[in-house]
Amino acid sequence: MLRLEKLTKTYPTGDMALQAVDLEIPAGQIVALIGPSGAGKSTLIRCINRLVEPSSGAAWLDDVNLTRLSQAALRRQRRRMGMIFQEYALVERLTVMENVLSGRLGYVGFWRSFTRRFPQKDVDEAYRLLDRVGLLDMADKRADELSGGQRQRVGICRALIQDPALLLVDEPTASLDPKTSRQIMRLIVELCAERGLAAIINIHDVALAQMFVNRVIGLQKGRVVFDGPPDALTAEVLTQIYGEEDWEATIRKPEDEDEAEAAPLPAGAGGA
Ligand SMILES: Nc1ncnc2c1ncn2[C@@H]1O[C@H](COP(=O)(O)OP(=O)(O)O)[C@@H](O)[C@H]1O
Ligand SMILES: [Mg+2]
Repeated sequence: MLRLEKLTKTYPTGDMALQAVDLEIPAGQIVALIGPSGAGKSTLIRCINRLVEPSSGAAWLDDVNLTRLSQAALRRQRRRMGMIFQEYALVERLTVMENVLSGRLGYVGFWRSFTRRFPQKDVDEAYRLLDRVGLLDMADKRADELSGGQRQRVGICRALIQDPALLLVDEPTASLDPKTSRQIMRLIVELCAERGLAAIINIHDVALAQMFVNRVIGLQKGRVVFDGPPDALTAEVLTQIYGEEDWEATIRKPEDEDEAEAAPLPAGAGGA
């Protein structure tokens, strides 16, 4: 379980990016964190794995207070928190396989994979993951030869090979077309379910969030202003989070659910 207690971040510039956020996410639960640009979504997940140092408050992963760890202990705990980035953060000149294996080193040291040798069991697991996301035949391709959707699949494999308990996902579809975005969201949600992983998925696209998760958290100016099921996201709530806009097209209607369910991920959908 992940628990945030009054988690607060004020940047040196004075930006109050997070203001005393309290949050509990049980093991295995997938949450979408929505909100406009600048709401604090990236800061929130980065304060959990301490790519950003919180100003005050605490983040607990099970019985470990992440905010209090020494650097060495933090490195160990980061293994339990896979991260998926908007811009994929692959090493362009390395192969798909090398990028996936670099996940074994933790996401802050992935450039070191260049000089590393990996045990066979890691290589086997990397092949299994690539197969699962439909990229088995791409293992030896260089990262810079891939499409956006394929890159994000590599990013997903790199996070999962850590065997984390929690996935921190920052706008995974922001650089992808709508169809590929859905495929990537579906893949992330399916993999979390298969592995019993909890996840925080930052996403500014409300409709996409509603399609795939049962719990949505709305962030506005560093504060939680909504926490509930997708169906409770009324026009009024969305206006509160994002400001005045016509929300009619976004409010989920019953027929949308049929569509979401009727579109399973095609087998070996690596072409996106
Ligand atoms: N490194 C930084 N230094 C100063 N201010 C920052 C930094 N990163 C983010 N901010 C500010 O913190 C607020 C939240 O940003 P961010 O967490 O990136 O929001 P989101 O991911 O929802 O777009 C914004 O006002 C942003 O300008
Ligand atoms: Mg962000």
